[in-house]
Amino acid sequence: MSRQSTSLSEYPVWDRTTRWFHWINFLCVIVLLFLGTVILNAGDLGASNDGKILLKSTHVVVGYVFTINLLWRLVWGFIGGPYSRWKAVLPVGRGFIAALSSQLRDIRSGNSEPHAGHSPLGRIAVTVIFFFLLVQGATGLVLAGTDVYMPPFGNHFAEWVAGPDMDPQAVRPYAPETVNEQSYDEMRAFRKPFISTHATNYYFLLALILFHIIAVISAEMREGGSIISAMFTGKKTLAKKPE
Ligand code: HEM
Repeated sequence: MSRQSTSLSEYPVWDRTTRWFHWINFLCVIVLLFLGTVILNAGDLGASNDGKILLKSTHVVVGYVFTINLLWRLVWGFIGGPYSRWKAVLPVGRGFIAALSSQLRDIRSGNSEPHAGHSPLGRIAVTVIFFFLLVQGATGLVLAGTDVYMPPFGNHFAEWVAGPDMDPQAVRPYAPETVNEQSYDEMRAFRKPFISTHATNYYFLLALILFHIIAVISAEMREGGSIISAMFTGKKTLAKKPE
């Protein structure tokens, strides 16, 4: 902690790994949302089969970066800095309910106290976002296999749709002549809950991202806690000692 003026102090909060995670995740999600929107409307946009394969493969490659980054963040929650640890992120633990009630009282009275790491409401929001990101990553990895036969499950699905009479090595996306029709239909039935979850989750994520941005801006205005710049510099500059 270093003195900047008589009233402002800097508090180191977000370690370097957490900041890199945040901005890599941000970029990946923007690109995935964009490509996902195009995939969703590929038919109306008149995309050819080759165009759809290219769109999906690009979406999957960005999806790998997104998933690896997310998994690394999960691990970092056990070994990272104090504000990045799961016990400082998840809305559980001793004193959480009391801290949440106190924050809600503060908001109602218009006298918000700054928080060094996540506020109790922030912990709830971040946990919900993590959950939806994980579901999107997990269903996306299955779809990478069922739709474009890419890792980690692509070989398994290629073997499935090849059935007893086709060569799994020759299976190609959008090439019905390379698959056994009955096996392919069975695989598509298996895929159904994954694609509907992935597509529904996309709308939840859009809403959550909007909510996240509004919440951060409103907390920045209420608490004056340099919340946004802290995700770049790692430090919050506060006039009051944080809770
Ligand atoms: C924030 C993360 C993500 C978002 C917002 C997102 C969004 C979407 C959307 C909207 C679609 C179109 C769904 C449809 O056609 O009904 C889609 C399709 C797809 N996604 Fe994602 N996705 C994400 C992450 C991933 C990841 C991590 C992977 C894999 C590594 C992945 C793989 C796929 C595949 C293979 C498809 C094509 C499925 C189809 O045939 O439509 N996605 N995604």
